[in-house]
Amino acid sequence: MMTSLSTKEIANRLVARGKGIMAADRPRQPFEHMLAATGSSVHQDSYRDWSELLFTAPALEDYVSGIIMTDEQTRMTSAAGESLLERVIDRGMIPGISPFTGMVELAGSCGETVGSGLDGLRERLAEYAAMGVGFSKWRAALQIGPHTPSEYAIAANTYVMAQVAALSQEAGIAPIVEPEVMLVGDHTIERCFEITERVLRRTFEALYLHRVELAGTLVKASMVVSGNQCPHQADVDTVAEMTVEVFRRGIPAAIPGIVFLSGGQSDYHATAHLNAMNANYQLPWKLSFSYARALQREPMQIWRNQPENAPAAQASLYHRAKMNGLAAIGQWSEALESEALAT
Ligand code: 13P
Repeated sequence: MMTSLSTKEIANRLVARGKGIMAADRPRQPFEHMLAATGSSVHQDSYRDWSELLFTAPALEDYVSGIIMTDEQTRMTSAAGESLLERVIDRGMIPGISPFTGMVELAGSCGETVGSGLDGLRERLAEYAAMGVGFSKWRAALQIGPHTPSEYAIAANTYVMAQVAALSQEAGIAPIVEPEVMLVGDHTIERCFEITERVLRRTFEALYLHRVELAGTLVKASMVVSGNQCPHQADVDTVAEMTVEVFRRGIPAAIPGIVFLSGGQSDYHATAHLNAMNANYQLPWKLSFSYARALQREPMQIWRNQPENAPAAQASLYHRAKMNGLAAIGQWSEALESEALAT
């Protein structure tokens, strides 16, 4: 059933104090590859079993406000035949949709990409809204290299993200725009800062052009970090300081919240960085999480596609959600991590 909330109310609920988003929108095929890579067997129901494990983890709603799903997951039923989307709504979490259908290479570029899935999107969004989906998420993947991201790739991606955001709001769905600056590479943190600033400015130019209401929009951002192959890795306080500074320059205060992707950071760093920002800075927006890997990496290792491991995997998911929920209000500490590990 359609939500009666405005996009502004949805956006604010998603970043309610001490809560963040679980990104569960890995499509079936990449999920199956990932599961196989853990050495586990993969069968027809594995994707359903994993989605059910995530969406029904006990008390997850204490720290998770919304769940990003694939189209397949929005239509999925549990092993017992119940709609998983309705379970999520009944538990007070907001279902979200990743309506994108894959990355395609930009014609004329040197391998840069743009998301596809705009065809029929107006109609699909109307259908999702009728099912009770409250928000959408659309990702741009921008790779730092000697000559990338190009102005061409930034323009193409921000334009498409803004189109999706405008279409989402038209359907009563709150958009999350995700201009990800990827951490893969040997670049310095200063170069990441410079690229992130440029990308954020272009993102808001495009949102303005498309008449997107910022109060009903969230940004899913990457942190300003050293490239993962850079010999000098910036410390937690530097990442927090430079990330906050780039947002102050590039993200209007009208945006209710910024939720981070984890992007390949370790579970520890994803939490420590978020906590350092919230503990040390006065900010005009809420800063929270929208993690996939930094919430689900450990649970998947525990699960290994064995039903008897599901409760332990769910407990591990709850623990990571709790650590990040505390980081969203600057109240996480390393002691909390080790206390929980000791129990
Ligand atoms: P990661 O946290 O694994 O980077 O994923 C975020 C995301 O956007 C998936 O929807």
